[in-house]
Formats: sequence, structure tokens, C-alpha cells
Amino acid sequence: MKVVLQNLTKTFPNRNKKLPDVTAVNDFTFEIPDGQLIGLLGPSGCGKSTTLNLICGLEKPTSGKIFFGEDDVTDLPPENRGVGLVFQNYALYPHMTVRQNIMFPLQNFKGKDKLPKEEMLRRVEEAARLVQIEQLLDRKPSEMSGGQQQRVAIARALVKMPRVLLLDEPLSNLDARLRLQTREEIRRIQRNTGITTIFVTHDQEEAMSISDLIVVMKDGIIQQIDKPQNVYDDPRNLFVAKFLGTPPINVYKGQVRSGWLWLGEDKVLHVSGVEDQELWVGVRPEGYIPREDGPLHCALKAVEVMGRDTSVVISHAAAVSDPLRAIISSELAPGPEAREIRFALKPNKVYLFDLDEQRLPFTAE
Ligand SMILES: Nc1ncnc2c1ncn2[C@@H]1O[C@H](COP(=O)(O)OP(=O)(O)OP(=O)(O)O)[C@@H](O)[C@H]1O
Ligand SMILES: [Mg+2]
Repeated sequence: MKVVLQNLTKTFPNRNKKLPDVTAVNDFTFEIPDGQLIGLLGPSGCGKSTTLNLICGLEKPTSGKIFFGEDDVTDLPPENRGVGLVFQNYALYPHMTVRQNIMFPLQNFKGKDKLPKEEMLRRVEEAARLVQIEQLLDRKPSEMSGGQQQRVAIARALVKMPRVLLLDEPLSNLDARLRLQTREEIRRIQRNTGITTIFVTHDQEEAMSISDLIVVMKDGIIQQIDKPQNVYDDPRNLFVAKFLGTPPINVYKGQVRSGWLWLGEDKVLHVSGVEDQELWVGVRPEGYIPREDGPLHCALKAVEVMGRDTSVVISHAAAVSDPLRAIISSELAPGPEAREIRFALKPNKVYLFDLDEQRLPFTAE
């Protein structure tokens, strides 16, 4: 089932009348292809949960439309939309067993949709098998680990066989290892069922690893919709470039003068297709090549060997981000006594942005 958002907008009035209204979702237009897993990614307060609440019908849009396939569901109540939802703070009913928790949504089916008891039990077992908790069906939530409870919440969302599955930070309460394991499970379940899924997270690595497409948001505005690798390799603006990547991209204030990119006193790269101007320059940590005659002169602050690679912490007069970090091959790492290090830059790891933070394309020569 594809999901289409058309000029979707949600404005919340401010309680303090002197302050402007909050536009949590600002003119979203995009199509989520059938059977794909979309990651909604952005910092806290950027409108991720509001977007999900609009799609499932818990919030009414201020303007705009939502379609599931060809159906306009904008005015449909949540229970008629066929969505499964796992909330940011998933809550299981503590007095019910796992089986009863998962069965609960099915018991709410009314009229012709009502299911016989055996069919309900069969579906519960199927959903439990999908998330691998079939041996826990008789337990109460308090008798399970956080990760197991999480899977019960997912099973409860799946049991209705939803047309669309919405997951709002479903891994936020789990420790690092369980997070990794559960996100792989979500990916597996999503592939097996083929349910169009929207996965909300503020964790870029999580979004990168799990999504077919990533929607990057900031202040209720879509910044970029792209495949995970493209969002990283081809960011549309400085915000996206800074939001994706660990360690983060290094940012400098630079200039282009007569076809050369300058960082402070260093003439680092021949660039064509960019007019003379001041600009923001982003360099990914993996974009530095240590070289004795390299044009970029940096002070060396620390060397952290990480096995195959070495992370060098450096500083530079034109840098805006502090610290700067380069990831280089350990074979090329400077000795402990070095105070200075020089680099050449890999042109495809260098990004230019105008002072409005929009990407400027260039060709390096
Ligand atoms: N019911 C409401 N009334 C007024 N403002 C609201 C309401 N719900 C959300 N907001 C505001 O809308 C903006 C978006 O909120 P939303 O919950 O969608 O963010 P989010 O991206 O899910 O953040 P988080 O990562 O912290 O969960 C925020 O500025 C928030 O304060
Ligand atoms: Mg939220």
C-alpha cells in the first residue's frame, strides 16, 4: 500500500498568545512507495511524531491530504485506516498476559469484521512467531525484559494485519546491543510481511541501517528525501551534511578566489563552476590524505588508534567545528611526537555550501 502526503500541514496554536503558532509539519508532499521502509529522521521537536499522528489519524491536519493507495483517508477515523502503531512510549496492559495484550486490538473489531475466537488465537500466535516471543505468551509484561516487551508491542501492531505500520522511536528504551538486534528484527519482519512501514528516529545511524528511503526533517520542513547512501554522499544542504555521519563532517569558513578553494592561508583545491565568494566548506573525516607536501596545514592535538584506522584530532584557523577529526589509515598515522600534520583533500569528500547553507556543486580539477 503506497502512502501519499499532499501539502500536509499541521499548526498548533501557541498557549502564549504573544508567541507565533507552531507549524509542526509544514507543507509535506511526498510518496512512500508500496512495501518500503521509510526512516523519518530529525532532531527532537522537528515534527516526526506529529507526522505519524497525522498519518494514523490521531491528529487532524490543518490543511492538505493523505492517501493510502488511491483512497483519500484524510477524514477517516483512526480505527478505519488499517494502521498498526507502536508509540514512542509503548504501553502494554500490565494486568494482561502477552497473549491478551496482542489479542486486544482484534477484540475491538465490530460487526462484520468480528473474528471467531479460534481465528483470533491463530493470528496472535502468528504475530508472536514473527517477533519470536511465542514461548512468552502466558507471561505478564512485568515478567519480561524491555526488548521482549518491545516485541510484544510490535506484535500487537502487526496482529491486525495493518495496511501501514507506524513505529515511533520503537527502540528508544533498549540498551545498545538489544537496539541493534531489534532493529534488524524489525527489518526482517518488514521484509517478510511487505507492509509499508514508517520508522521514526532521531538516530542517524539507525535510520541509515534500516531504511529504504530517509526523510530528513528540521523545524517541520523536509530537508531531503533520498536513499541512505545518497543522503550521506550528496547532502542538499549543510544541515543534512552535519546531521548524517559519525564522526560528524568537519566544517570550515572558506573562500573561492579565481577557481581556488582557500581555507584560511591554505590553497587547498582547484574548483571550477563556483563564483568567487565566502562559503561554508564541509570535509568528511575520511576525506583527508596525510601527505608531507599536502596543502592543508593543521595542528595535531591527539592521535587515537582504533585498529585498522586512526582518528586524528586536529585544529585549523578557518575551522568552525571544534574539534576537527580525520580518519586515516593507521599505516599513515603520525608519530606521538608530531605537532603538525599536512593533508591533501579527497575532492569527492569536500562539500561547498553558500552562506544560506545550500549546496554549491563544483568540479575539482
Ligand atoms: N498538542 C500540541 N500542542 C502544541 N504544540 C505541539 C503539540 N504537539 C506537538 N507540538 C509541537 O510541535 C513540534 C513538533 O513536535 P513532535 O512531537 O512532532 O516532535 P518530534 O520530532 O516527534 O520530537 P521528539 O524527537 O522529541 O519526539 C514541537 O515544537 C512541539 O512542541
Ligand atoms: Mg516524537
